[in-house]
Amino acid sequence: MKICLTIPEARAASRDARASGKRLGLVPTMGALHEGHLSLVRAANAQCDAVAVSIFVNPTQFGPTEDLSKYPRQFDRDCRLLEKEGVEILFAPSVEEIYPNGEVTWVLVEGLSEKLDGRSRPGHFRGVTTIVSKLFHIIEPEAAFFGQKDAAQLAVIRRMVRDLNFSIEIIACPIKREPDGLAMSSRNAYLNREERGRALVLQRSLQRAQQEFQAGERNAAKLISAAKEVFAREPLVALDYFEVVDPGTLDLVERISQKTLVAVAAYVGTTRLIDNTVLEP
Ligand code: PAJ
Repeated sequence: MKICLTIPEARAASRDARASGKRLGLVPTMGALHEGHLSLVRAANAQCDAVAVSIFVNPTQFGPTEDLSKYPRQFDRDCRLLEKEGVEILFAPSVEEIYPNGEVTWVLVEGLSEKLDGRSRPGHFRGVTTIVSKLFHIIEPEAAFFGQKDAAQLAVIRRMVRDLNFSIEIIACPIKREPDGLAMSSRNAYLNREERGRALVLQRSLQRAQQEFQAGERNAAKLISAAKEVFAREPLVALDYFEVVDPGTLDLVERISQKTLVAVAAYVGTTRLIDNTVLEP
């Protein structure tokens, strides 16, 4: 595995991979890798001839009161995991490499970036689309792999790729869960034992909505109130949002007549967790 700390190194390594006729896949991450990330790497390995992974805790997608400074960093362990997966290129730049002082250019997907997590985390998606654009320009992959876990992020990135004519296929991978159903996340490491138990309420609320839907309910408001009952029984978890939306536009849906995204975000203690499920009539 070639470890690239600078942009020129990463450009050269990915150019070499592409020059030998290989289909290059990119998996962007912020590190502290878990099975969710590794499932993306495996999908990329299965669908591409060479895989590049980036590890960069991107400061521009964190709000001023968010967890940037305490975000888990475990570079050596991440390297070993990626090496085992047969990753060809690891791009792990410093903040100074990516953001030397003075840049004034942002990539912003208007509208979509203010929905779901974008509403609770102002500026978050502008940071995501800006870094993902930069990574796309540096690595120039043919395909890029993202987790369905971050469904709003996926919608925003798909729209950016369409609007800015990136010639990159965006591939969504299913949510990886712990045996008890908790969606894997680097932020799960913040949870103490008690919080870890309470965190299951996100998954339970989604299951409740899924059950109502399976029983024939098509009214989004009814699904939402059923899910909120589940949250009411876990008063130490603060619901941020529970929404039923179109997976492409993230617009609210009233009656479910096509593929629909049910997304939830909640604070377990100070840790913000997200999860979602898709309803298919
Ligand atoms: P990060 O949270 O590290 O996630 C990297 C990728 O792993 C994302 O595409 C995310 O959706 C996926 N992922 C995380 N948990 C997952 C799970 N349980 N199952 C499946 N996939 C999962 O998302 C980011 O980083 C950043 O915003 C980034 C895109 C790298 C831009 O900075």
